[in-house]
Amino acid sequence: MSVIWDIQTHDTLASTQARLKELAFGGSREGTGVQAYTQTGGYGRQGRAWVSPPGNLYLSLLLRPDCKPHDIPQMALVTGVAVIESIRAYVPSVFLKWPNDVLASDGRKLAGILLETDIDAAGRLNWLALGVGVNIASAPDQIGAALADLTEKHLSLNDFRDEFLKRLSLWYRRWQTEGAAPVRAAWLYSAHPQGTPLKIKLGESRLDGYFEGLDETGNLLLRLESGEIRMIASGEVHFGMNE
Ligand code: BTN
Repeated sequence: MSVIWDIQTHDTLASTQARLKELAFGGSREGTGVQAYTQTGGYGRQGRAWVSPPGNLYLSLLLRPDCKPHDIPQMALVTGVAVIESIRAYVPSVFLKWPNDVLASDGRKLAGILLETDIDAAGRLNWLALGVGVNIASAPDQIGAALADLTEKHLSLNDFRDEFLKRLSLWYRRWQTEGAAPVRAAWLYSAHPQGTPLKIKLGESRLDGYFEGLDETGNLLLRLESGEIRMIASGEVHFGMNE
């Protein structure tokens, strides 16, 4: 059965993510969503600001999957696949960068995905707040790209949202019933090629290597110069090496 989405829309909010987390703590059901047409305090990974002018998608969704907390990062892959499939209807040459980025062919960022969770004392997941920002009308800075600049097709913010919600529901259910394998395959189909040089920031240290794929649970596999394959569960990934 598809997820029944219940999206509350606001002209402006500090952050849809902050609002959704209040609803999650208040016991709202799976499928609850918050959308804002602008945000004054939008944020992304590592607490970075997510500048949020009108015309783009700012959406947060509440999910309560029955899964082990260590499987939750797979939801970034599920969401990435749903976002990129929705974008491809407008711009065919786009790709995914592990774990959470959707990029235009020149490497500029089209969309970002943020996962935040609440885990109880027994280690069970209470809820997952999934935040998605897609640059539709404009990109707030030079490292971003907007869909409108890459396609001649007519773009409607809420048609895009509805298409994304449909695809997210499909991939979420598929992940719940079939596990990580089909999601991993779909994600790899849309990713940059194997062998792409990557540098990974792990706290203070840095690891250079080549993209080798994902393991069966969605961790990044990095091939070092020595040939050794390292499994990366979390980290900040950049293109290129030895810079
Ligand atoms: C990232 O790439 O760092 C993730 C960015 C996530 C931004 C979205 S916009 C909707 C939701 N509300 C927020 O404050 N953040 C997320």
